Amino acid sequence: MLRTPILVSLCMAIAFVCCYSKFLQPYTCWFYICNNIFTSRPVYQPDPHAKSNLNPLQTDPPTFVKQIKNAKLYTVGKGDDVINVLHLWGTPYEKGYAHGTILKDEASAMMDEAWNYFEQEIIDAVNKTIPGFFQPWFLKDVANLGLEAALELEIAATKPFTPSYFYEEMKGLSDGARIDVKKLERIHMFGELTKGSCSMYGAWGDALPFPGAVMQLRALDWASGGPLQNYPQITVYHIDETNSTNGHAFANVGWSGWIGSITGMSSKQMAISEIGVYFSDDSFGEESRFGIPFTFILRDILQFDNTLDDALNRIANARRTCDLILGVGDAKLETFRGIEYSSGVADFFDDMNIRPEAAWHPKIRHVVYWGMDWIDPDYSSVLGRQLQKYHGNITAENTIRDVVSIVQTGDLHIAVYDLTRNYMFVANARKKGASGPVMAYDRPFIRLSMAALFKEAKPQI
Ligand SMILES: *[C@@H]1O[C@H](CO)[C@@H](O)[C@H](O)[C@H]1NC(C)=O
Ligand SMILES: *[C@@H]1O[C@H](CO)[C@@H](O)[C@H](O)[C@H]1NC(C)=O
Ligand SMILES: *[C@@H]1O[C@H](CO)[C@@H](O)[C@H](O)[C@H]1NC(C)=O
Repeated sequence: MLRTPILVSLCMAIAFVCCYSKFLQPYTCWFYICNNIFTSRPVYQPDPHAKSNLNPLQTDPPTFVKQIKNAKLYTVGKGDDVINVLHLWGTPYEKGYAHGTILKDEASAMMDEAWNYFEQEIIDAVNKTIPGFFQPWFLKDVANLGLEAALELEIAATKPFTPSYFYEEMKGLSDGARIDVKKLERIHMFGELTKGSCSMYGAWGDALPFPGAVMQLRALDWASGGPLQNYPQITVYHIDETNSTNGHAFANVGWSGWIGSITGMSSKQMAISEIGVYFSDDSFGEESRFGIPFTFILRDILQFDNTLDDALNRIANARRTCDLILGVGDAKLETFRGIEYSSGVADFFDDMNIRPEAAWHPKIRHVVYWGMDWIDPDYSSVLGRQLQKYHGNITAENTIRDVVSIVQTGDLHIAVYDLTRNYMFVANARKKGASGPVMAYDRPFIRLSMAALFKEAKPQI
């Protein structure tokens, strides 16, 4: 959308200067600057005066709350930073049913509030006041057909590529919590329809103080103005003894009533990271609507894949949709890969072949990283700088104290995975009515022992 000739000339002048400086590669530079001006998407930057996160780590084990058939509920964390830890057993339908039953109020409130939040955001986006968050074709559908019909189109485009157990679990959740199943299905499409800007790293080998270890970061910057942070939940899926093809135990970090994966760690000492790509480049190609939603393929990686190679094969062979960067770490193979993910492309990166190649995204030995986007010189350069500063000593403690807090990434939630020692460190944004800093990266982190979570015994009810 060209605004005025003056803006166009200004853009060209700035782009010219910048493209011939060392700051950015030419194409990257053009894209970044002109896109900013023409789409008026706000440009954020890390605050150079950002402070370290000095909150003490919360390490108490989870506290038991209650149990029913196929579910046990615990909480973890203290004060204003309590997170539900829900263990589930049974078939996909039974897991959904138990989830909806034991957390009926939380799951219904979360779904109602999330619906209202996304609906208002869409109204604003259709009216062009918040460009960049939703996929443009989706907004066109909403403008032409209305929100519910547009979401039904999205379900129709992805359901043929979605394994049926996701829909069985949502049906169980709907029956248990008495939430309209259509509403649940539609809300689970929002990952696909929005562009989160998030950050990740994977670090191994010489980057860490322990030989043979793997550390991984998933910082989620998405929808932090909504209700999600009021319903944080770690859902632990245990194996279904009646079905040997049902994979293995994994923990999904999300919200009550939400069954897709954007953050999580499996009992195979593997974990996932994800970034929504807004500023892409030619290498991504066109996006597609027809394929498996990424929140479901990420969950399949947690549930079914035994090694990093399984996950990379799954991604290479999937019917993919939107532009993303994914990350998968595997403590058993002592490494991590970043993935350029789009409808037409699945490229795998280690520390040697990582892209984009740019002065603001220097290669770091045994580290793969991106700050907020594929092309984001502001955040990627600060993330790279902090990782270089701690190179050889990248630990969960240093990541919490001086990486996410200084880069200011992970506004909604953050998981730092110590895959080798089998810990997950989680922080969540400030809940409604709570005190202290707003952003997850400034709040206390909770340490979870994953071996203990995966060993939880099924309730004898
Ligand atoms: C856009 O804004 C106008 C006026 O504020 C409002 O009446 C209209 O419903 C909005 N458009 C959509 C699609 O909601
Ligand atoms: C077993 O689980 C797999 C994956 O969850 C599912 O596709 C399959 O239908 C299940 N089989 C039975 C008999 O329930
Ligand atoms: C690594 O970081 C910790 C702080 O988390 C510090 O105490 C320690 O001295 C550092 N080790 C090295 C070798 O720099």
